[in-house]
Amino acid sequence: MTFASRFQNKKIIVTGGASGIGRAAVIRLVCEGGTVLAVDRNAEGLAETLDEANALAGYGGVALSAQVSVTDEQEVREAVQGFVREQGRLDALVNMAGILRSTHTTDTSFEAFMQIVQINLGGTFLCCREALPYLLQSRGNIVNAASTSAFFGHAYMAAYSASKGGVAALTQALSREYINRGVRVNAIAPGGIGTPMVAAQANGFPEGTDFTLYGHLTRPDRQLGEPQEVAAVIAMLASEDGAFVNGAILRIDGGTHG
Ligand SMILES: NC(=O)c1ccc[n+]([C@@H]2O[C@H](COP(=O)([O-])OP(=O)(O)OC[C@H]3O[C@@H](n4cnc5c(N)ncnc54)[C@H](O)[C@@H]3O)[C@@H](O)[C@H]2O)c1
Repeated sequence: MTFASRFQNKKIIVTGGASGIGRAAVIRLVCEGGTVLAVDRNAEGLAETLDEANALAGYGGVALSAQVSVTDEQEVREAVQGFVREQGRLDALVNMAGILRSTHTTDTSFEAFMQIVQINLGGTFLCCREALPYLLQSRGNIVNAASTSAFFGHAYMAAYSASKGGVAALTQALSREYINRGVRVNAIAPGGIGTPMVAAQANGFPEGTDFTLYGHLTRPDRQLGEPQEVAAVIAMLASEDGAFVNGAILRIDGGTHG
């Protein structure tokens, strides 16, 4: 595939960059010339992402990394400020870090519920808050990770669905708050995408799962999307091609929820 140079001289942070959709986004943005800081708590995965991205880089693109938990205020602040200090600016923030656990709601502890909300929603909020002062300077943009779970309510994923509904609402609130100051805020809402998160879920369905409840998630020709197919939409939203897209939650599910 030949890539455009939409991110030449652009400075971007991608959380969740050690795996799945976040990794595919890092690679895509680096192929299009971006200087990308991949942020994740998984150091081993980050190293693999950097190897892959820097081997494929185009138009002067480069991948860097920072081992950070998106729920740690100080780590997030230092990563954002350090990147801006080194690179001089920040053009886009792509928030892909997240976790998924499938459980019966009656078996879900409050702690387990809050952990999912803390990472998926709280981590997204923290990264947005720390990046916004710099995005206001560059008139940059944010792409968050919602999910079809935010709108269609997937069984055994009450905490996850609630956290992603929160991400969708956060995205729309921020897009309104900054609409007159040049910062766009959008989210993607993928359906089932073939990543380690989904593979782990397939092994982790709770006992007694009623699989007929998942019928609407699949389609006859192809069950899952590819991380690269999501990364292509992230790149569109984060680039000038998305200049008139703001406050959107873009569904990327091959039509399975339509
Ligand atoms: N795969 C899907 O089907 C699907 C569907 C809808 C939405 N999403 C969302 O897309 C995003 C990416 O998902 P994926 O499928 O690539 O998952 P993944 O598990 O492959 O990658 C998620 C990454 O987030 C990182 N992460 C988790 N908690 C973190 C923390 N506290 N700090 C820093 N990093 C942390 C993990 O280490 C991992 O590298 C997630 O927000 C997910 O909820 C995925």
